[in-house]
Amino acid sequence: GLEVVTSVEGVREAVARARAAAGGGRVGLVPTMGALHAGHAHLIERCRELADHVVVSIFVNPTQFGPTEDLARYPRTLERDLEVAAGAGASIVFTPTEEVIYPRGKAATFVEVPGLSHVLEGAVRPTHFRGVATVVLALFEIVRPDLAVFGRKDFQQQVLIRRMVDDLHVPVQVVAEATVREADGLALSSRNRYLNEEERAAATVLHRALQSARAAVLAGERDAGRVRQILDEAISLERLARLDYAEVADADSLEPLVTIDPARPAVALVAARFGSTRLIDNLLLAE
Ligand code: PAJ
Repeated sequence: GLEVVTSVEGVREAVARARAAAGGGRVGLVPTMGALHAGHAHLIERCRELADHVVVSIFVNPTQFGPTEDLARYPRTLERDLEVAAGAGASIVFTPTEEVIYPRGKAATFVEVPGLSHVLEGAVRPTHFRGVATVVLALFEIVRPDLAVFGRKDFQQQVLIRRMVDDLHVPVQVVAEATVREADGLALSSRNRYLNEEERAAATVLHRALQSARAAVLAGERDAGRVRQILDEAISLERLARLDYAEVADADSLEPLVTIDPARPAVALVAARFGSTRLIDNLLLAE
């Protein structure tokens, strides 16, 4: 059965009971903001393969939203989320309120990963990643999981968390899972529901552009500038897309590349707006 807990003590007790019952089994955590879709379900299923007990946290974290972002209209679908979590193998769902996570109003302590926090997504969302890093570290401290699973859909987030965990010696194994996509390549995202029919069709350009970039690299292209140009050109052909960035970077450091070294992992990352909806996507270039 699925245990739903809302307090810090509640989740700690549930985890302690799970560990005792399994005679010391591994506990995995999948942090989410709810509105669970097949992408989240995939992370939970993967976590269940790697751990004996899966905790899913559902918390729409206000500190990672900018003042003009969609915090108020972020979808909240708890009943459905509990079904998805249970169906994918979660045994504990932690759904704290804002007061539980930030009992003194706004936290006074922040985790910053400066180099990674202010490029790409961080360039347009200057406080986003410190909100993410801080809440994820808090969730790690509350749940104390052995491992945590993140999606590569949010590539920069996963790199940032890995770096934080390394730098602060956090004893949590960070696992990154591939992006789950619709049949036409669009990455699943809770924001896709805001696209109208035309924008939804246009949004497939992101994955097509990324695939062209990858095909070029697989065919021997080593000039990262040329790969950026392929992304730019493909996306600018779609009249409903307004490109924010198209970058080719080292997959571990997110440093922009000049030359692609086939012996090192590289990633192409894009962000574009379709109407008022901003979408991101990425693809490893030489996997
Ligand atoms: P959220 O957007 O709910 O995403 C939760 C997890 O699901 C993240 O690791 C994200 O990368 C992953 N995910 C989203 N779409 C996916 C897809 N199509 N395929 C595979 N994985 C996908 O990311 C957050 O929440 C928050 O920033 C959080 C880490 C919970 C901190 O508040």
